[in-house]
Amino acid sequence: MLLRSLYHLRRFPMPSPTPLSTLLLDGSSELDLSTAASLLESNRLVAFPTETVYGLGANAFCASAVLRIFEAKCRPADNPLIVHISSPSQLSVLTPPLSKLALSLIDAFWPGPLTLVLPVLPESKIAAPVLAGLDTIAVRLPKHPVALALLAKAGVPVAAPSANRSGRPSPTCAKHVVKDLDGRVEAVVDGGELWRGGGWGVESTVVEIRGEGWRLLRPGVIGRDEVRKVVGTDEMTKEAGGVGRSPGMKYRHYAPKAKVEIVRKVELGDRVKQLEGMEQRVGVVGEKGVWERNVVEVEWGWAGLARGLYRGLRAFDGEEEGVGQVDVILVVVPEEEDGMKEAVEERLRKAAAGGGVDEQVVACET
Ligand code: TXA
Ligand code: MG
Repeated sequence: MLLRSLYHLRRFPMPSPTPLSTLLLDGSSELDLSTAASLLESNRLVAFPTETVYGLGANAFCASAVLRIFEAKCRPADNPLIVHISSPSQLSVLTPPLSKLALSLIDAFWPGPLTLVLPVLPESKIAAPVLAGLDTIAVRLPKHPVALALLAKAGVPVAAPSANRSGRPSPTCAKHVVKDLDGRVEAVVDGGELWRGGGWGVESTVVEIRGEGWRLLRPGVIGRDEVRKVVGTDEMTKEAGGVGRSPGMKYRHYAPKAKVEIVRKVELGDRVKQLEGMEQRVGVVGEKGVWERNVVEVEWGWAGLARGLYRGLRAFDGEEEGVGQVDVILVVVPEEEDGMKEAVEERLRKAAAGGGVDEQVVACET
């Protein structure tokens, strides 16, 4: 039965959910946050800002609510969700007692952009679709004040993937969420444009923990070396029991409609000339001053690129006024290294490999 439904999800267009009217709520209004929390409590879908990207939340104890996340996003059913909590005390109903290693990471990085993959408590009431058949659960305690306030008010753990249609760049403002999910979710809480501060712009680091062993499953805001420094040991090998991958990592992600190319500053001028010579419309994402026309400017360094990258990819797909649809987006990468390099490079590689139309997006009827 399960296999049949997975097959169905992969191959055939999913029926569009019945259109809803999506409420736009203000993250700085106490009243609006209470409305959003009661929607979550009554098993509706609510998108909200976190310090990484916007998430699409549902009560993680309610299977029908969680299934609606998969439907709204056109997300394959074999890709598990991260459960968001507002206090470490909520872990007691989700996982068995934690190892020393897990506790040290929680101590160092929570609240913050670190997701821990832990054994799931067998008697936990977590809805089965959250786990997608795994015996582990991914948990995160975000730092964004709007996310924290909403989660605390909702009182239940909230399953939340990024609030984009599957295959699209993750949303870094409420407008991006509305573009992808309008009419498919009950509410979007607006917490501002994450590239203007208060946000990192790329997703959390995912670390799997088995006893006193760990392994990085998805590079993110917190660098591999930062994790290693806190834990004091090297990553476990696959042979030692590490799964070594997140189901979601195999899917094409972060793909705008235009083709994405990664260029160094010194190559930019020549590459633009070459592409324009082939009648290609070109857009540039890069640091201030790197290019003078059809450019989305980002702040300095890899962290700056992280903040503005998804916005840039979406802007050149025609989502921002004053920026037109292009055929090729040239992303200018910083010369220097910093802790965010691995995460941004991973997203860029996927965006560059996955340009054009994504199977999951096609399957998601509008
Ligand atoms: O920053 C973030 O993590 C954002 C915000 C909204 O919190 N969320 C996010 O969720 O990026 P999503 O669903 O787009 O990515 C979650 C990743 C996927 O690659 C999924 O396969 C993986 O986490 N994951 C979830 N549960 C897992 C588990 N039990 N074992 C291994 N990987 C898991
Ligand atoms: Mg995602």
